[in-house]
Order: sequence, then structure tokens, then C-alpha cells
Amino acid sequence: MGLSQSTVAWSNDYALGLAEIDEQHKFLFHLIDDIWRAVASKADRDATMKVIAELERYTVTHFAAEEAFMREQLYSRYQEHRAEHEKFVARIALERAGVKAGKPLSLELLHFLRDWLVQHIRFTDRAYADEFRDHEKAAMQSSLAKFFKRFLG
Ligand code: FEO
Repeated sequence: MGLSQSTVAWSNDYALGLAEIDEQHKFLFHLIDDIWRAVASKADRDATMKVIAELERYTVTHFAAEEAFMREQLYSRYQEHRAEHEKFVARIALERAGVKAGKPLSLELLHFLRDWLVQHIRFTDRAYADEFRDHEKAAMQSSLAKFFKRFLG
């Protein structure tokens, strides 16, 4: 595969079934693909800064939204999840500082971003989505049971 051909693409296998979150994840893939293009075309520092800063900005936005959702759901593994987010944001901030100082983005970074995102969505994000669905199901069953108890006396 040539460098011009991106390998950063969304797959339906990554879908969590939570529409808003899936849309945000798709956009993250799109932004990482922009970085791929910047590396492949040997973009200058300003253009590279723009794509990495945009990834950093949107990542922070997405993580904040997801963390708020997890807090509201009283997600049992919130703290570990948040720690993963913080580590990732710190890595992007480090890369942005490097670009600012004149360092080019590396292919290794591209692989890291893509692999991290895929693993994080497939395992870490999926865990809260599954727990959320379990709670929803339990709440539905409990209200159904209450209804029939009332109905049947
Ligand atoms: Fe969707 Fe935990 O990032």
C-alpha cells in the first residue's frame, strides 16, 4: 500500500448503537484521516498544526460529552475510562507541541492514533454502552413488572 492511500477509515464494526456517540467517533476517524493526508502530502508546518490542533480540540469535546454521559449513567468504570482519555489527550498535546517546534508528524504516530481509537472504541467505549443497555433493560423490566402487579392486583 502506498503512502497516499489512507488506512484510517470508519467501519460499522465500531458502532456502539448510540447514534450521537457513533457520529462523534466517525468524525474522529475523519480527523485522523486528515492527519494521514497531511503526512502523505508532506504538508507544511501551518497546515500540519491546523489538523493536529483540530484533532485535539474535537477529541476534548468528544471526551467531555462521553464523560458527562457516563457520569449521568453512574457508570461503574468511569475513573479508569477517564484516565484513558486523559492519557490520549496528553499524547496529542505533546505531538502538537512537537509540530509547533518544527518536528514533522510521523507514520508511527498515525498508527498509534488509529490503533488507539479502534481499541478504545471496541473495548473501553463498548463496556459503558453495554452497561447502559443493561440498565435500560433492567429499568424496563422493572416498570413492566410494576405495571402487571398493579393491573393484576
Ligand atoms: Fe469515545 Fe471513550 O472515547
